Amino acid sequence: MTTTLPAPSSSLLPTLPGRYYTDPELFAREQERVFEAMWCCVARTDEVAAPGSFRRVQVGRESVLVVRGRDGVLRAFLNVCRHRGAQLCTEESGQVHRTLRCPYHAWSFGLDGALVAAPNLARMPDVDRVANGLVPVHLREWLGYAWVCLADAPPSFEGDVVGAVTERLGDPAAIEGYDVGRLALGRRIRYDVAANWKLVVENFMECYHCATIHPELTDVLPEFSRGYAAQSYVGHGAEFAVSAEGFTVDGGAGFPALPGIDPDQDRRYYAVTVKPAVFLNLVPDHVILLRMTPLAVDRTGVECDWLYAPEVVAAGLDVSRSVELFHRVNQQDFAACERTQPGMSSRAYAAGGVLVPVEHHLALFHDWVRGRLGEG
Ligand code: FES
Ligand SMILES: [Fe+2]
Repeated sequence: MTTTLPAPSSSLLPTLPGRYYTDPELFAREQERVFEAMWCCVARTDEVAAPGSFRRVQVGRESVLVVRGRDGVLRAFLNVCRHRGAQLCTEESGQVHRTLRCPYHAWSFGLDGALVAAPNLARMPDVDRVANGLVPVHLREWLGYAWVCLADAPPSFEGDVVGAVTERLGDPAAIEGYDVGRLALGRRIRYDVAANWKLVVENFMECYHCATIHPELTDVLPEFSRGYAAQSYVGHGAEFAVSAEGFTVDGGAGFPALPGIDPDQDRRYYAVTVKPAVFLNLVPDHVILLRMTPLAVDRTGVECDWLYAPEVVAAGLDVSRSVELFHRVNQQDFAACERTQPGMSSRAYAAGGVLVPVEHHLALFHDWVRGRLGEG
């Protein structure tokens, strides 16, 4: 499962021009062709465990409700009343009994989306309760998260989402050992990043910056100080420093390794990007999952979850030293993205910048963005 890192070629490659990070029209096209067309990871399923519980999330330019039915089934709907278009829920999350009731004229929708009640509805027998029900959104559950897709005909979940993880780890069984769906939320931290979402993705995908801005991380993962991005080599996990007992801010011991992981995966860190906007970090005793929501061309919301064995969370064990390591990494990364965003609108970056050899895989991401935007 491990690889020797090959030497990259020595040339420089061009980046995307600055306008890709500043142009509101390009951003709207990305919302349409990326975030409204692909599978997006939006919520933990245990946030909406109880019947009638809901979470409101932003997907592309749409507000979406993820709702647990009384039948236990998790569904998603556009958060728009079919009467005259009011938002049904403005709270971020909540709990209803049997219906989602629009606060404007009191149309009520069942947790399966069907229109079930409205003032004078009995006197309007021609109203079709399904046709006038909430607009459903495709939903899949994986790794303990709800993933939604706004497309009428979604792309293959197995291909785009599961396939991205398999492609990176090199083996479909590699993710299964972590049993991510069984893990419990130890900590969630939200970040509001004043940078275009692509700067956040690019930063996560490369490690040229690691030696400069991540002292705690490179202490635990010394190979990161060489600038090689672990995730550009199939199956490669960065090995812990000999002196590191665990993936913690001071290299002290963490928790016992998750029971299903392969011996090869012990004392290693794996990073996976699931396009468009999920970062998965796997270490022996926990998993860190980041989800990004582009909020504007120059603003990105990030939710970062630290997931541990349920016994660790149930026992109230102290997770702060492992949280602190990646929280610092996040703060360091997002500060770098925010430092870069103003440069995107400078004339100095009108034609873009350059990728050094250890960043060459970012060119594939740029090609992918251009492809999604229909630029070939
Ligand atoms: S807009 Fe919702 S009931 Fe009228
Ligand atoms: Fe980083």
